[in-house]
Amino acid sequence: MSLLGVNIDHVATVRQARATDEPDPVWAAVEAELGGADGITFHLREDRRHIIDRDARLLRQTVAVKLNMEMAIASEIVDIACELAPTQASLVPERREELTTEGGLDVCGHRDRIKEVVSRLHDAGVIVSAFIEPLAEQIDASAAVGFDAIELWTGGYAHAETAAQIEDALAILTRGVQIGRDAGLEVHGGHGLTYRNVALVAAVHGFSEFNIGHSIVSRAMFVGIREAVRSMKQLLERHAPSEVLV
Ligand code: PXP
Repeated sequence: MSLLGVNIDHVATVRQARATDEPDPVWAAVEAELGGADGITFHLREDRRHIIDRDARLLRQTVAVKLNMEMAIASEIVDIACELAPTQASLVPERREELTTEGGLDVCGHRDRIKEVVSRLHDAGVIVSAFIEPLAEQIDASAAVGFDAIELWTGGYAHAETAAQIEDALAILTRGVQIGRDAGLEVHGGHGLTYRNVALVAAVHGFSEFNIGHSIVSRAMFVGIREAVRSMKQLLERHAPSEVLV
């Protein structure tokens, strides 16, 4: 069964709406762990719109499961990541005007810079993942520059409306997973996954991790983080592919 990484950024978004000290994303991480999260994911954005440096430091000290830091390839953030040394860094594109990370990193277009960042993170003992669209050229480029893992952008599936679009998006993801695994990469998935749509993606062979934020934090407003995480874990378990790929 694939692991569940819980993205807690939105807890910090609520705190930043008032520029105060609650709700604390560090508390959210503890609650997510108690609910069964296999990992905690946070994104230290250059504009610090939600997670701030203090959160990153405290999460590094307190999270007992896998700690996954989403990050841009900007020098300042790379320096922080190397010093912090989370379990994993997920390199993502970042634009100031976006509401959340939109689409994947263009590994093909920035090979040299990305290779340098991957190598620096490896030197700091960090597993490095590329958040990319499920395109063969991006997957191959990710393997070529030394990533350990790729996180396939599941937005194409999440935003699909008709049955045919959903089927197409799933076929693209399934193929992407295959290409990634054949290239020796671990394959993760994330973006736009919800309690309603996660089943079909969870059933795709070969994903080893899903990173889910918005939907879990939204449900947590009504049932609490622990219960929201527990429910998502149950869905991943229920819909996991039966045979294990080797
Ligand atoms: N994976 C990555 C790389 C992301 O940037 C995000 C959004 O921060 C997610 C997963 C989670 O997406 P969502 O909040 O839509 O579940």
